[in-house]
Amino acid sequence: MANNVLITGASGYLGGSFLAAWAQSNVQNYQTLYALVRSDDQADKVKTLYGAEPVRSEITEESIRKLVLEKQINVVFYLIDAYFAKRQVAFIKALEELKKTTGQEVHFVHTSGAKMVSDMAGVKMDGPLYDNRDDIYEIHKSQKPKHWELEEAVRTNCTVVDAGEKHNIRTYLFFPCIVYGKGAGFGNVISIQTVDTVIAAQGAGGVYRPGRPGKTWPVCHIEDNTSLYISLAKAILNGSNPDCGKHGVYLASSGSVGWDDIYSAMAKALAKRGVIKDATVKYATDDALQAMANALNVQKPSVAVKIGGQCNFTAVHGKDLGWQPKYAPAHILEALDDEVALILENLSKKHRGIR
Ligand SMILES: NC(=O)c1ccc[n+]([C@@H]2O[C@H](COP(=O)([O-])OP(=O)(O)OC[C@H]3O[C@@H](n4cnc5c(N)ncnc54)[C@H](OP(=O)(O)O)[C@@H]3O)[C@@H](O)[C@H]2O)c1
Repeated sequence: MANNVLITGASGYLGGSFLAAWAQSNVQNYQTLYALVRSDDQADKVKTLYGAEPVRSEITEESIRKLVLEKQINVVFYLIDAYFAKRQVAFIKALEELKKTTGQEVHFVHTSGAKMVSDMAGVKMDGPLYDNRDDIYEIHKSQKPKHWELEEAVRTNCTVVDAGEKHNIRTYLFFPCIVYGKGAGFGNVISIQTVDTVIAAQGAGGVYRPGRPGKTWPVCHIEDNTSLYISLAKAILNGSNPDCGKHGVYLASSGSVGWDDIYSAMAKALAKRGVIKDATVKYATDDALQAMANALNVQKPSVAVKIGGQCNFTAVHGKDLGWQPKYAPAHILEALDDEVALILENLSKKHRGIR
């Protein structure tokens, strides 16, 4: 049976970039690439720009089942919600049904995020945490996040893996980190944590560090993030059985940089454009935190989740798929001036809140 692939979040930053790269990446061994869209304009774009087949569908349990079975979709890339387990299990159940009918192997790739394996999510900070560790799922399952949204998101990751085992389908957890660079898709072209840093600075009138100095976080250029999705897709489609389930964890990152360096570069870029008065990075007082929270449309404790924290997650697993990032971690610091300009051009209300 031929493989049929569904990419969700096709109008998003990560999903749009993935879809745009697909056509140029010589992906083989599939019949149809479907893209989930929500409007006629999006449908038109995915078809004319990328040759993908648009699908409009509610994402209720019954319509997901219908979509997967009617189109015989056996590979799903889920890029629309890293936090909540609202629809992933419905996809997994539908994939199981397809597998029973056709005998074909089925795959579900859930997009999570590096925040879910940070200090704020209850991971012990005792050295690098490699994404190919044998006990990575057990570590994840035993985490006790300090923030409700991370508790929810860690539970979602475990739900995906557990449901994959229960329903006998291959699942993968894909972890983006601080992704930067202009998205290559037709929809949203800006990221999340860099965008949140700008929104917080606009709200507070300056760049404020939420917490102690010296914290670091993995980073990844959007092209490298996309090429890991492509490498995973190729490995799935050519039947090379990439690690999955409890061992199917893949971080897209070339390495880490200091938040303090990110804050400084962004403060400079924002001050240069007159968005804030001066480029000094200050410790966030309670008032500044409240102003940042208001601007970000979250509660005060969630500000640190959005633009701070320590994450020791380290990418090695992608190398098994032949993935090699092009951009060294320090590249982000050179790129942040352009990143700020891009964000200021494209920022809208939809970029605020838990995403
Ligand atoms: N960007 C990053 O740096 C980063 C880092 C870590 C994790 N992640 C996670 O990766 C996922 C994708 O991120 P992103 O930056 O690509 O986000 P994004 O640009 O906001 O894109 C979200 C996509 O999901 C679609 N979507 C949202 N709700 C939907 C629904 N109910 N039905 C159908 N489609 C829906 C949106 O469609 P519309 O355009 O129609 O709204 C859009 O295509 C998110 O869950 C995010 O938390 C991202």
